[in-house]
Amino acid sequence: MTPTLARLPAAVLGVAFAAALRAQPPLLNPSARQGFDLNGKWNVIVDPYDTGYFDYRHEPYDAAPNPKGGFFLDRKPADKSELLEYNFDESPTFDVPGDWNSQSDKLFYYEGSVWYRRHFDYAPAAPSDRLFLYFGAANCEAEVYLNGTKLGRHIGGFTPFEFEVTGKVLPRGNSLVVRVDNRRHQEAVPTVNTDWWNYGGLTRDVRLVETPGTFVRDYSIQLRKGRTDLIDARVQLDGTLSHQHVAVSIPEAGLAAEGDTDLAGAVTLAIPAPQLKLWSPEHPQLYAVRVSSANDQVSDRVGFRTIEVRGEDILLNGKPVFLRGVCLHEENPLRGGRSHSPEDARLVLGWARELNCNFIRLAHYPHNENMARIADEMGIMLWEEIPVYWTISWDNPDTLENAKAQLTDLIVRDRSRASVIVWSVANETPVSEPRTRFLKTLVDTARGLDDTRLVSAAMEVRADPSDPSHKIVDDPFGAYTDILSFNEYVGWYDGLPDKVPTIRWSFAYDRPVVISEFGGDALQGFHGDALTRFSEEYQADLYTKTLAMLQRIPQWRGATPWILVDFRSPKRVLPHVQDGWNRKGLVGSNGQKKQAFFVLKKFYDEKAAEGR
Ligand code: GCU
Repeated sequence: MTPTLARLPAAVLGVAFAAALRAQPPLLNPSARQGFDLNGKWNVIVDPYDTGYFDYRHEPYDAAPNPKGGFFLDRKPADKSELLEYNFDESPTFDVPGDWNSQSDKLFYYEGSVWYRRHFDYAPAAPSDRLFLYFGAANCEAEVYLNGTKLGRHIGGFTPFEFEVTGKVLPRGNSLVVRVDNRRHQEAVPTVNTDWWNYGGLTRDVRLVETPGTFVRDYSIQLRKGRTDLIDARVQLDGTLSHQHVAVSIPEAGLAAEGDTDLAGAVTLAIPAPQLKLWSPEHPQLYAVRVSSANDQVSDRVGFRTIEVRGEDILLNGKPVFLRGVCLHEENPLRGGRSHSPEDARLVLGWARELNCNFIRLAHYPHNENMARIADEMGIMLWEEIPVYWTISWDNPDTLENAKAQLTDLIVRDRSRASVIVWSVANETPVSEPRTRFLKTLVDTARGLDDTRLVSAAMEVRADPSDPSHKIVDDPFGAYTDILSFNEYVGWYDGLPDKVPTIRWSFAYDRPVVISEFGGDALQGFHGDALTRFSEEYQADLYTKTLAMLQRIPQWRGATPWILVDFRSPKRVLPHVQDGWNRKGLVGSNGQKKQAFFVLKKFYDEKAAEGR
């Protein structure tokens, strides 16, 4: 929490915090709309002491009724005598989208504020249109100013946000200034301790989006829960004329439906669909869908599939499926830094495809929208997660609101993506009453927004104190999830690989078991015997033994080993081995595959050959 807020009374704090989260989820599918990309080179000012934000009495400039200072004013000296100690025009530039850590060696470890400034001209296609400034994400807090006026603040580094700027955009010379702050805070989500790099910046697309006065703000087009022949098309309008006639059409399937919204601008249309080709990894069928209202239309490509649990099986389109998965962070190891583009997604999803994966766990936070759209096309099922990671401030109501907002924004953004089959609300969180209550609230939030997908979390395993080879999964939170998913590191953090064959499991719940993490580090190209830590042989042996052990679990229905490719982590400091990388990848940070890649591939090829 930025220092300013700490001095505000709780009631105001709650409101200021709630306001910073967002009024409503941002509009959907901005790239399918009329508009203007603001990506490219932005001038930046690195501001570790927040000189551009606070005066010397540490009062925020933008809180003053008639602000005299502050970088958000984006001013130039009026004459040769005026004292101004910043100048965006003369300042360096960074690429947007992009993190600052991989764009400047000086900022590799930097945690603090950076000011971004972009000038632009813009004349809306139709003067009556509304205008929205849309950000795919900014890590992890952003304050946005247009032409010297504050639009607002957003908290949360991995979900989209917007500000309406209708009537605020000039035909020429607009000044857009964003202060991005990636400082970590105990009460934030994620909290201060993570095993990934805290990339800061405008990490995803920035776009000026034009809409008609009343427009289609939100829609979800999916098969009704448990049905393969009935589509629910839910549409939400935004605008003064929200009581309108809307239509949804799926021309390639010869389907269409129409109806009137209620006074709140909402309608759900049920569309009988007896002949649909269902989406699956083998046949990633997508259909062009059009949602139209009186004077708005938005198009999308949507796949239709069902996903459910029946006893100890996971059923995709009614048939048992085994989730041949792997975990992934949102990083392009070859270019370095956060990934954000369709090409970035194709690179890593391509490696997963080579492994013969049909499933990927996007860890531990919402990845960019391109991931799910490319996974839709490639036929890869996804687990999406919010960064309720390790030890969060369970009793802090703002922390809960923050987590709920991130979960809501993720689900609203991706709930028409056929590839997404699991919403995960947490990773490796310590069992306690307040924690389980916190997570249960998130499960309810997820089910309230989308009852058609599985909900889970990466839970913890406990060892039987009387028998270290006896592993027990009885996390009370398991009572609320659809699958039993947990992380296990026997043979890496817990003993050596020869301990793996001795392991036996007890589960408190009759659910499909999906191992959300297992694995060990190996430096690509470093070789030794199977007991040499960090050698490829150790990792490969660990995989061989773990896969054999997991096969003995009758209700085992999937796995996402940790992790597809090495990723940056400030917690990994072993010289000449880790050097700031978590080396548990099956692919090295140089893009080279390790022996374990082929151990897992062979196993998945066999599973696929079994038709699972
Ligand atoms: C944990 C955690 C990961 C971490 C991994 C590791 O289980 O969920 O975020 O990177 O283990 O230790 O490598």
